[in-house]
Amino acid sequence: MKRPSFSAIQIIAHVGAWLPLIILLWDASQNQLGVNPIQDMTLRSGKTALVLLLLSLAATPAAMLGFRKALKIRRALGLYAFGYALIHLFIYVGLDYGFDLHLLWLELTEKRYVIAGFTAWLLMVPLVLTSTRGWQRRLGRRWKTLHRLAYISGIAATVHFVWLVKSDVRTPLAFAGILLLLLSARLPTIRKRLTLRRRLGAQYSKPCQKEGESEIEPGVQLANSQTVP
Ligand code: HEM
Repeated sequence: MKRPSFSAIQIIAHVGAWLPLIILLWDASQNQLGVNPIQDMTLRSGKTALVLLLLSLAATPAAMLGFRKALKIRRALGLYAFGYALIHLFIYVGLDYGFDLHLLWLELTEKRYVIAGFTAWLLMVPLVLTSTRGWQRRLGRRWKTLHRLAYISGIAATVHFVWLVKSDVRTPLAFAGILLLLLSARLPTIRKRLTLRRRLGAQYSKPCQKEGESEIEPGVQLANSQTVP
């Protein structure tokens, strides 16, 4: 039987993703959650979910820049993000509101940050359900289109964070800035430039046949009619 093998980046991703939950449970067992334990748990699980969601969105730009191993952990990071969002939702619905559907409905209709958070979470559901290779094969090109919902989920989660903060919005705005960078890397023009730079970097770093000879000269017209800057 073939033994599963994990690369260093996969081990780092899995250990790193479990760590916040282990620390949270440890702190809970040691009564070290702060004056409002439920709020502390809500904030910690929410922050971890958002960080993991952004990290999974960072995998594609990282691959464009040459760090292709990032693609190996993209799905796992997305699934962990959903896991933490589920814990976040459970703490809010179960521990904070005691599953009181009437009160929860009032929250959902009255507080805009709850609507944004719920939207972010809801959009993650089809992504998780279709995250397997089987669904990827079955949906073909539509899989890629469907998984663009991750961008909207990221936007909704960031908006949720911006809206719920009452005074100092610097941290949520920093998250919004990072998200903007990650999403703009997907724009066709930026994507093309990043890919081109990576390819050229790889070409330049190859050893030349003769001293002083490089395989591509700056300013050369490439096949896709873009000039090397
Ligand atoms: C399912 C619907 C959701 C509900 C009802 C919800 C509700 C909440 C609540 C009540 C808070 C704490 C507000 C406070 O005490 O000041 C919070 C904080 C937060 N939530 Fe959510 N949330 C939801 C989904 C999400 C999702 C999907 C994400 C990210 C992927 C997320 C990320 C955050 C973040 C980053 C914080 C603030 C953490 C901090 O200030 O350190 N939430 N959420």
